[in-house]
Amino acid sequence: MKKSYFIQTYGCQMNVADSELIEKILIDHGYHKSNEPQNADAIFINTCAIREHAEQKVHSILGRLAKIKKEKPSVLLGVVGCMAQSLKHDLLEKRPYVDIILGPDSYRRLPQLLERTKDNKNSIVDTKLSRFEVYDDLFPSRKEGINAWISIMRGCDKFCTFCIVPFTRGRERSRSIVSILNEAEVAVKQGFKEITLLGQNVNSYNYEGMRFNQLIENVAKIPGIDRIRFTSPHPNDFPLELLHTMAEHKNICNYVHLPMQSGSDRILSRMNRDYSRQEFVEIAKRIRNIIPNVGISTDIIVGFPGETDNDFQETMETMREIKFDSAYNFKYSPRRGTKASEYDDQVDDYVKNERLDQIISLQKKHTLERNLSLIGSTQKVLIEKESKLSKDQWAGRTDSNKWIMFDKGDLNIKDMVEVKVIDAKGVTLAGRTLNVPSVA
Ligand code: SAH
Ligand code: SF4
Ligand code: F3S
Repeated sequence: MKKSYFIQTYGCQMNVADSELIEKILIDHGYHKSNEPQNADAIFINTCAIREHAEQKVHSILGRLAKIKKEKPSVLLGVVGCMAQSLKHDLLEKRPYVDIILGPDSYRRLPQLLERTKDNKNSIVDTKLSRFEVYDDLFPSRKEGINAWISIMRGCDKFCTFCIVPFTRGRERSRSIVSILNEAEVAVKQGFKEITLLGQNVNSYNYEGMRFNQLIENVAKIPGIDRIRFTSPHPNDFPLELLHTMAEHKNICNYVHLPMQSGSDRILSRMNRDYSRQEFVEIAKRIRNIIPNVGISTDIIVGFPGETDNDFQETMETMREIKFDSAYNFKYSPRRGTKASEYDDQVDDYVKNERLDQIISLQKKHTLERNLSLIGSTQKVLIEKESKLSKDQWAGRTDSNKWIMFDKGDLNIKDMVEVKVIDAKGVTLAGRTLNVPSVA
């Protein structure tokens, strides 16, 4: 009888893409998917280690899985991904019932390990990081959907002092253009409308001298791709020609996620971010000047070690100057093994909370302000799903990555339509379709 697997994914889109890769390996090995962990023969948790909170979530699910394992000892339990890489010793000690621990560069060994665990009672661990593994020849198993995540590179060499990623995902390496283009073509044939190119640092993409700008230009020429997104570029060495490429190609979305982290030069330097506040502001302005109607989002960390009230005010000031369309705001979370976790001027948690509240409410104001300015404009929208608030309405995203709701009419999911913005509330827009599906 065919065996079944269940997989739960935490963390960023890189992990989502990796889970699809793992599913492909499992399916090729004769497994089929189960939507319930209780019924599965193998359970995989793809983990994230970026902040403590992410790890806590995994610990709590592992606690629940311990019960399943007790009731059904034959079930195979695998912890994979970034936390497997960074916390293997903890896991081995505290979660001895885990059968397989695999880091992000070891997924090819999965079939071999599935065989071995049949008569091996000890946990099997493989967290060796590779300089070369990009899973070039393995096309992920994708659920039917709108967006296909395509990983174009792995790892990160930036070593921002707060970040665990260079330790969990190892050195930076890029995938060949040919295999990325092939994968994108397959995704289009399967009916995906949107492609998102993924990397921790897409402007470092370099495959035999081919850089990110050339890659995205080639992807844009593939017939049938309605939308191309990418995440994330690093503000340092931001490729300016990319902005012109984005402006020239209709199917490259007018949206840039540009993580700022802080608006204080002193903190940016301690973070090893390699750009100044002024340089960041200039890039953001250039993005807005070159790409019409662009949406810019960012990541901000508050309470980084040594962040004074003055540094924090500089972050708020920079936010006011740029007025991001949206922001992912985080409290600094010390990660074992990273440089910043050893700084001796850690900020108190209550100060972090206070600052977090302040940037969240400032950002809300900016998001609303920017959204209100769109009232009356017409936006190109890809219909993605039913609105959570009304079954008579669709929800879709504008090119600039804003959610907008409007009456269903006789339209369908995956239609690209022109929508007039009539209202803005919170983070979402309300619209009215001009009812003619637009040509992408
Ligand atoms: N490669 C991307 C970021 C990936 S991690 C980049 O450099 O732009 C996503 C976000 O998590 C980061 O931008 C940062 O804001 C946040 N982050 C990373 N490490 C963190 C930590 N130790 N504490 C709090 N937030 C963190
Ligand atoms: Fe982490 Fe910095 Fe690399 Fe982003 S660029 S993954 S924040 S080390
Ligand atoms: Fe988390 Fe790893 Fe992504 S630490 S954010 S899953 S690269």
